[in-house]
Amino acid sequence: MMILRSIAEMQAAALAWRRAGRRIGLVPTMGYLHAGHLSLVALARPDCDVVVVSIFVNPTQFGPQEDLAKYPRDFERDAACCREAGVDAIFAPEPGDMYAADFSTWVTEERLSQPLCGARRPGHFRGVVTVVAKLFNAVLPDVAVFGQKDAQQCLVLQRLVRDLNFPVTLRIGPIWREADGLAMSSRNVYLSSDERQRALAISRGVRVAEAAFAAGERSGVVLCARVHDAITAGGGRPDYVELRSRHDLRELTAASEPAVLAVAAFFGVTRLLDNSFLG
Ligand code: PAJ
Repeated sequence: MMILRSIAEMQAAALAWRRAGRRIGLVPTMGYLHAGHLSLVALARPDCDVVVVSIFVNPTQFGPQEDLAKYPRDFERDAACCREAGVDAIFAPEPGDMYAADFSTWVTEERLSQPLCGARRPGHFRGVVTVVAKLFNAVLPDVAVFGQKDAQQCLVLQRLVRDLNFPVTLRIGPIWREADGLAMSSRNVYLSSDERQRALAISRGVRVAEAAFAAGERSGVVLCARVHDAITAGGGRPDYVELRSRHDLRELTAASEPAVLAVAAFFGVTRLLDNSFLG
């Protein structure tokens, strides 16, 4: 497995692969890998000759009061996971290589980035979209794989690819969960054992809402209340629970078209995401 530490090295390798007619798959991550990340590698594998995992804790997608400094990092462990998963190369650039001191060019998506996490984390999606555009330019992928766990991020990046004509096919993998239902996340390590237990209320609430939907419930108010109530009963603080269109993220009063029930909630100071596709 190759480990590429600079954009120049990465681009040189990618150009050589492309010239040799090899298809490149990219799984962008911020590291501290778990089975959810590695499931995305498996989705790239079948039709890519070379699978690259990028590991970069992107400073520009964190707000000034957020967890950039304490975001978990363990490169050796990540490298071992990638090796075991059959990854061909890790791209792990230095922050100074990705962002020059006088960096001043940004890519912004201006519609789908507005609600949900965009409203709670100003500037977050500008950082995500810019870094993903940069990763595409460094790795030159044919295919890039993202997780439904971050459903809004997926929609925003699909819009980036369409609007700016990146010659990349996006693929979306399902949410991987711990055995008890908690959506896997690098941030789960922040939870105390008590918070970890109580945080199950999120996936429990999502399952209750899914069951209600399956039984015919379509009201956005009712479906969201199911999740909201479960989270507060578990001692969490909902940040948002919203029913939105999977097409354009507009708020829906009823799940009468493909919808996403999108959830963010705090347990202690840790903010966790979950969601479910309904219909
Ligand atoms: P990160 O949070 O490390 O996630 C990397 C990828 O793994 C994302 O596409 C995310 O949706 C996916 N993922 C995370 N948890 C998952 C789970 N439980 N099941 C399936 N997939 C999961 O998302 C980012 O990093 C960054 O914003 C990034 C796109 C790398 C840009 O910096």
